[in-house]
Amino acid sequence: MKKILITGACGQLGTELISEMSERYGSEKIIATDVREAPKALADVHFEQLDVLDEDALRSIITRHEIGQIYHLAALLSATAEKNISLARKLNIGSLHHVLNAARDLELERVFWPSSIAVFGPDAPSKNTPQNTALNPTTVYGITKLTGEQWCNYYYNQFGVDVRSLRYPGLIGYKSLPGGGTTDYAVDIFHKALKDESYESFLAENCSLPMMYMHDAVKATLDLMEAPAESLNIRTSYNVAAVSFTPAEIAASIQYHLPDFEITYNPDYRQKIADSWPDSIDDSVARRDWKWRHIFSLDEMVIDIIRNLPDHFDGLKKHSF
Ligand code: SER
Repeated sequence: MKKILITGACGQLGTELISEMSERYGSEKIIATDVREAPKALADVHFEQLDVLDEDALRSIITRHEIGQIYHLAALLSATAEKNISLARKLNIGSLHHVLNAARDLELERVFWPSSIAVFGPDAPSKNTPQNTALNPTTVYGITKLTGEQWCNYYYNQFGVDVRSLRYPGLIGYKSLPGGGTTDYAVDIFHKALKDESYESFLAENCSLPMMYMHDAVKATLDLMEAPAESLNIRTSYNVAAVSFTPAEIAASIQYHLPDFEITYNPDYRQKIADSWPDSIDDSVARRDWKWRHIFSLDEMVIDIIRNLPDHFDGLKKHSF
């Protein structure tokens, strides 16, 4: 097996994906890169600083390390993208072109690129949003993800680049922190619950969004990347789903274990972003094509996070069940 390059390795998904990939494929197979410096969590794999907007530097790493696959995770998330349109365009779409061109020219085996539920806009059905439906995003992030999906499909059809993609819901984990997303509240809430026993949500009480525990997100990513190419019928990006919940519902699940926890609501500009996204997603095409199955329910996720989060971040109270 050739080596695997990960961009955006210090991000929320990168950190956890690399830990599972190291176990599965061997840490010597992983080349982690990020524009930031290496965190302690990535100490076991080879790390190089890389700005993916520098196409020559990207190609140099690919050839120097004889890379076979790229997981191109570097991107601005939804809230940050609204505040910096031109960087979002450059990073989320420009760097994808660098990766797709490199995959074509250097004949790489496979590319993974994350899309998002943000490709759907207010005119898509909000409940059980299907794989193929109206795609009219109203956010900067959603526009970049929709554009990227179309480029992936084009490079697959035109040049045979084996690029695969998932429309992630909000991702929730305890080993790493998200940065700049609208669904970040569902991670922040656990830190606050275990530290201060109270949380002010920046989304409204009854705002339902599709979400997924990180364990399932890593599984979905590797299941898709390991699936035989002939089983895949979608080369834009697959809908994937696990659970959907509101801030009130996750708070209730936390309160079951931490009865003193309190939540208040003070929606900000991120509410508008959330309002444009679906409540829940129909992922039957992924379940059919590559046998996608999620494992964690909301309550199972909450228990697992409350149990494990304090070991990863200082100053959080431990609770036993
Ligand atoms: N979790 C992402 C965000 O909130 C959605 O893909 O930006």
